Amino acid sequence: MRVVMKEGDGDHVSGPLEQPGKENAMKKRIPLSFTVNGEEVDLYISPSRTLLEVLREELELTGTKEGCGEGVCGSCTVLCGGVLVRSCLTLAMEVEGLEITTVEGLGEQGKPDPIQQSFIDQGAVQCGFCTPGMLMSVKGLLKRNPAPDEEEIRRGISGNICRCTGYAKIVEAVVAVTTGSGQNNTEG
Ligand code: FES
Ligand code: FES
Repeated sequence: MRVVMKEGDGDHVSGPLEQPGKENAMKKRIPLSFTVNGEEVDLYISPSRTLLEVLREELELTGTKEGCGEGVCGSCTVLCGGVLVRSCLTLAMEVEGLEITTVEGLGEQGKPDPIQQSFIDQGAVQCGFCTPGMLMSVKGLLKRNPAPDEEEIRRGISGNICRCTGYAKIVEAVVAVTTGSGQNNTEG
C-alpha cells in the first residue's frame, strides 16, 4: 500500500492567515519519501520532526517506542538502510529515499520473525517499551554477524536499557535462534 499525504494534510498550516516571518517558516512543511517495511511513503513534514515522531504520529507505526527521547534507552531503535539508528535522534528528513524497518516489519501476524519466536520460546520477552528496540537491535546484530558469541550478543544489546532483567534470557534467545537450538526454530 502506498501512503500519500498531500501538502495540506496533517498539521500543515496554510491559507490566508499565514504571515511571513520566523513562526511561519517553522510551520513550513517539506516533502519526504522513503520506504518503511516495504511500503513507499510520501508525506509532508516539518523539518524539525524526528523519524520517531513521523513513524508513530504520521504513519501510526506505534511499535517503535519513545522511552528517554534523548538517545539513551534504545527503545526507539529501527533499521535504516540496514543500519541501526535511534529514531528519536534522527531527523525524518535524513531518511529521504532510504529503507526503514520497524518492529512491525519483522514478522507477520501468525508468522513471527525467528528472533521474535525465540524470545517467546525462551521467555525473553520484557515489557512493550524495551522489547521492540531489543528485537531490532538483535535483528541488526544478526545482519552484521549471523553467529555472534555471548560477549558479542551482550555488546549488541548493550544500548537497549532495561533495569528489570539480567539479560540472561535475552542472550539465551539470541543463542537459540543462531544455533537452531530453540523449540520452534525456523529459518528466516
Ligand atoms: S527514546 Fe530513543 S534512545 Fe530512548
Ligand atoms: S524496561 Fe521493559 S521490562 Fe524493563
